[in-house]
Amino acid sequence: MALLTYENLVDPLLKIVRQSLVDFSAMKAGDSSLDVCCGTGAQVIEYGRRGITAVGIDSDENMLAFAVKNRLQLKMENISFYIADATALPFDDKSFDFVSVSFALHDKLPDVRSAVVSEMKRVVKKRGSLIFMDFNIPLPRNIWGMGANIVEYFAGGSHYQGFKDFKESGGLSKIVEEHGLVAEKTGYFKSGMVAVVKARSIV
Ligand SMILES: C[S@@+](CC[C@H](N)C(=O)[O-])C[C@H]1O[C@@H](n2cnc3c(N)ncnc32)[C@H](O)[C@@H]1O
Repeated sequence: MALLTYENLVDPLLKIVRQSLVDFSAMKAGDSSLDVCCGTGAQVIEYGRRGITAVGIDSDENMLAFAVKNRLQLKMENISFYIADATALPFDDKSFDFVSVSFALHDKLPDVRSAVVSEMKRVVKKRGSLIFMDFNIPLPRNIWGMGANIVEYFAGGSHYQGFKDFKESGGLSKIVEEHGLVAEKTGYFKSGMVAVVKARSIV
């Protein structure tokens, strides 16, 4: 994972979307939130700024090192980060008001992607919400959509295979449907390149 790309390029690009996601999701101070595959922790930090008790997990210790460094610099006591596998989350069933994942489903092969979403469903509270942020499919026919295709192509390997499958299978709306979730709200950002879906389990 290219850390320079993330900390210096992707995080600044998505900062406003990450801030908007908190209001879009209707998270409020005191809520509990888990962000899976949190990378450099940028989304978790936006939760922390808003008084949400937030946890980020990622399997890559180099990505998490950035998250921990930023948490210490900001002296945020209400957020924490752990190394963990999103396909086997180290949390009890129904633990969190919100469970989110941003830009970490499009790059997974279908079995891993599905296992991550199943675990998100398991650890969210009965009346809680799942928040998905990823590329909007179909990608817009503009500079953002073209840029996304180019970046993903050069990522190569299983990342690109995952991206191709994500596009061909219908992106977030298909994932929501396949997992028996109800999409309550969908928002679009960055000239239609980014989709955010707030969903809940059918109870
Ligand atoms: C494209 S990055 C997205 C990071 C961040 N969510 C964001 O919005 O910038 C995907 C992240 O998923 C993490 N990841 C991949 N497989 C994982 C797994 N099985 N469990 C936890 N994290 C995983 C990677 O280490 C990486 O940080």
